[in-house]
Amino acid sequence: MTSITKIEEYSDGIVVFCLKSEDLEVHVSNYGGHLLAVKMKDKDENIDDVVLGFDDIEGYKTQDKYIGALVGRVANRIKHGQFYLNQKAYTLAINNGPNHLHGGLEGFDTKVFDYQIKGDTLVLTYVSLDNEEGYPGQLTLTASYQLQKETLTLYYHATSSEDTLINITNHSYFNLSGMKENVYEHTLQIKSDQFMAVDKDGCPTGEYIDVKETPFDFNLESEMGKNIKQNHPQLILGNGFDHPYILTKDKDQIILRHPKTKRKLTVSTSLPCVQIYTANYLDGKLIGKNLQAYQARDGICLETQFIPDDIHLSKEPKTILRKGESYDVATSYCFEVE
Ligand code: BGC
Repeated sequence: MTSITKIEEYSDGIVVFCLKSEDLEVHVSNYGGHLLAVKMKDKDENIDDVVLGFDDIEGYKTQDKYIGALVGRVANRIKHGQFYLNQKAYTLAINNGPNHLHGGLEGFDTKVFDYQIKGDTLVLTYVSLDNEEGYPGQLTLTASYQLQKETLTLYYHATSSEDTLINITNHSYFNLSGMKENVYEHTLQIKSDQFMAVDKDGCPTGEYIDVKETPFDFNLESEMGKNIKQNHPQLILGNGFDHPYILTKDKDQIILRHPKTKRKLTVSTSLPCVQIYTANYLDGKLIGKNLQAYQARDGICLETQFIPDDIHLSKEPKTILRKGESYDVATSYCFEVE
C-alpha cells in the first residue's frame, strides 16, 4: 500500500509530499514538479537517497542545473530559439549559448503546480499561458506521480488551445551509491543502436551515428567510467555524455546498476529517445544534500523524451501538439536490489 502525505507546506503554496510504499520513499514537490528524494535499501538493508538534490526547497529555487526538475514546455535545445509552426515564425527565450534550453528563462521547473492526491498517485497540474516563454497556445499539463511498490511511474498529459510544441522530461540526477562515490563504477545498459551528434553548444545536429565500436555502445552493460574516458570527438565536444539515444525496444530500455550496493534502476518509457547526461557541468559550486559540493559525474540523468529539436530535425515532428489532440506519455523507474 502506498501512502501520500504532506511533509512541508509554505505560505507561497509550495508543498513537499512524501509517497511511501513498502519498498520506497519518494519526495516530490509541486514546485516545478521536482523529485526531491528517492530513498531505497541496498543489499545490506542500508537506506540511501539515490537522487541528487538539496536539503531545503530554497536550493531548488536558486539552482540552474535542473536537478530533479520536471522540464518543459520543451526539454533540451531548440536551435536559435526559433521555429515555424503553421507557417508562422515563433521566437523563444535564448538561455543557453545561442539556443533555447529546457523551456526557457522560466520553464516549468520554476512554476508552482496545483495538486491533488488520488490513492497511490500525486497529480500535479499547471496551466501555461499563451505566449509563455514565446510558445503559442494555452497549455494544460497534468503530471502524475504514481508509486507502486518499487516502481515510480510518471505520466504526462497535456492539451493546448492552439497548436504548440511539447516535450516534457524529468531531469533527476541518479546516483545509486547514495553519493558515496561518483557514477564511474555504475554500469549502464541502453537498448539503442544510434545516437545523435551534437554541436559545440550541445545542440543535436540531425546526424545519426551508429554506436557500434564506439564508447557510445551500451547495448551490453558497460561501466560508465570506462566508456567516458575514451577518446571520441563527440565525448570531447559534449564534455562527456550529453547525447540523445534512439531507443530500439518498447520497454525496459535503460538499466543502471551499482554493483557494490546491488542497486538497480530499470527505466521503461513510451518515448522513443533518451538524453544521457553525465552531469558534465556540475563543477563543485553547487552545494547539495548533506553539504556535498556536486562535481561532474556525480550523477547521471536519463532524460526520456521525443527526439530533441525535432521541429527542425524530423520530417514529421512528434513534438507538435495540435489543438484538440492530447499528449500522453509515461516513463517508469523501477528501483530494485538484486
Ligand atoms: C543538457 C545539458 C545541460 C543540462 C542542464 C541537460 O539536459 O543536455 O547540456 O547542461 O541539462 O542542467
